[in-house]
Amino acid sequence: MTDHAQLEADLSAQIAAAPDAAALEALRVAALGKSGSISGLLKSLGSMSPDERKTAGPAINGLRDRVSAALAERKAALEAAELDARLAAERLDLTLPATPRRKGAVHPTMQVMDEMIAIFADMGFALAEGPDIEDDFHNFTALNFPPRHPAREMHDTFFFNPGPDGERKLLRTHTSPVQVRVMQKTNTPPPASWIAAGQDPPIRVIVPGRTYRQDSDATHTPMFHQMEGLVIDRNIHMGHLKWTIDTFIARFFELPSVVTRFRPHHFPFTEPSAEMDVQCDTSGGEVKVGQGTEWSEIVGCGMVHPNILRMCGLDPDEWQGFAFGFGIDRLGRLKYGMPDLRDMFASDTRWLSHYGFSAFATPNPASGLS
Ligand code: DAH
Repeated sequence: MTDHAQLEADLSAQIAAAPDAAALEALRVAALGKSGSISGLLKSLGSMSPDERKTAGPAINGLRDRVSAALAERKAALEAAELDARLAAERLDLTLPATPRRKGAVHPTMQVMDEMIAIFADMGFALAEGPDIEDDFHNFTALNFPPRHPAREMHDTFFFNPGPDGERKLLRTHTSPVQVRVMQKTNTPPPASWIAAGQDPPIRVIVPGRTYRQDSDATHTPMFHQMEGLVIDRNIHMGHLKWTIDTFIARFFELPSVVTRFRPHHFPFTEPSAEMDVQCDTSGGEVKVGQGTEWSEIVGCGMVHPNILRMCGLDPDEWQGFAFGFGIDRLGRLKYGMPDLRDMFASDTRWLSHYGFSAFATPNPASGLS
C-alpha cells in the first residue's frame, strides 16, 4: 500500500469512528489544518519537478477531496444522531392527562355588588365612592347624630388614636357619609381615588363600599359591605322609595314581583325612617325569597332628614329625597345561601371554589344588561 493509501485508510477509519463533533474537528485539524498531514502533502507539491507533480498533484488533491467529503458526511451523521437522541429524550406523550390548572373565582360579595350595580345602573343611578377612613363630621355629625348621643355608640365604632389636632379619625361604620360628600359642595376637590364630589340636584347615586363595626357572629363581621342609595329631586316621596326597592329586589332575586313591607324604625338621618322586609319562607331549612309567610329584613331606608339637606346647603322646601342602605353580604347570603357570614372573609379557597363565581358570567341576566 502506498503512503497516500495508508494515510487515507487511517483517516477514513478514524473519521468513521469519531464519537462526537469535537473528536471530528480534531481529526479535521490534524489532516487539513495549517500543519495537518494532507496540508503538508499539498505543500510538498511546490518542491516537486513538473513530471512528479503531474501524477502526485491529482492524487493528493483527490485524497484531500475524499477526506473532506468523509468529514462532512460523518459530521452530518453525528448531527442527525444527536437530533434523534434529543427527540427521543424530549418526547412529549400527548396521551397523558393534562396537569389540572387551578382557576380563580369571583368572590360572592363582588358578584353580588356587580349584580346590584348592573341593576341600579339600568335604573339610572350613577356610582359614587368615599374613603374608608372617615372623620366624625361625615360619619356622624353631618348625618344628624347629636353630639354625645347614644346613637353614636350604637355603631360600635373603630376609632384611631387622636391626631396632633386632637381629631379622632374612624373606620366608617356605614356608607351613609358619602351622601354628604355627594350633596355638599366644598372648595377642596376630593382626591382622585374616590369619585364622590359635591353635585347639584337632581341626584341619583349608589355607593358600594366596605364598612366596619366591632361585631362578630354568624350574621355580623367586623368588616362588611354596604350599598347606599340616594335620590334628591323635587316632589319625591315614600312611594318612589318603595317602587325603587321593590323593582330592585324583584330583579335581584329574578322574580316577576315581590311582596315587601315597611316597618317603622329610627335613623338620625331620615324622617320618617323605615326598615323594609321581604316576604320569604325558611321552612325548608333554606331561605326562599318571594314566597311563604315570613319576613326577612333587607334594607334600612327613609326620607332624607331636612337637617341633612340644610347641612349640605340644600333648601328642604325645594328639594326632598330618599335614601337607603343595603348590606351587600347579607343580600348575597339571602340569594346564594351561605350559612355563616364570617366564612365569607376567612380566605379559605375551598369555600371560595364552592361559592365563587366564574369571571366570565354576565353580572345578572335579570338586569337587562349583558
Ligand atoms: N346607614 C344605615 C346603617 O348602617 C343604613 C341606612 C338606613 C342607610 C337608612 C340609609 C338610610 O341611607 O336612609 O344601618
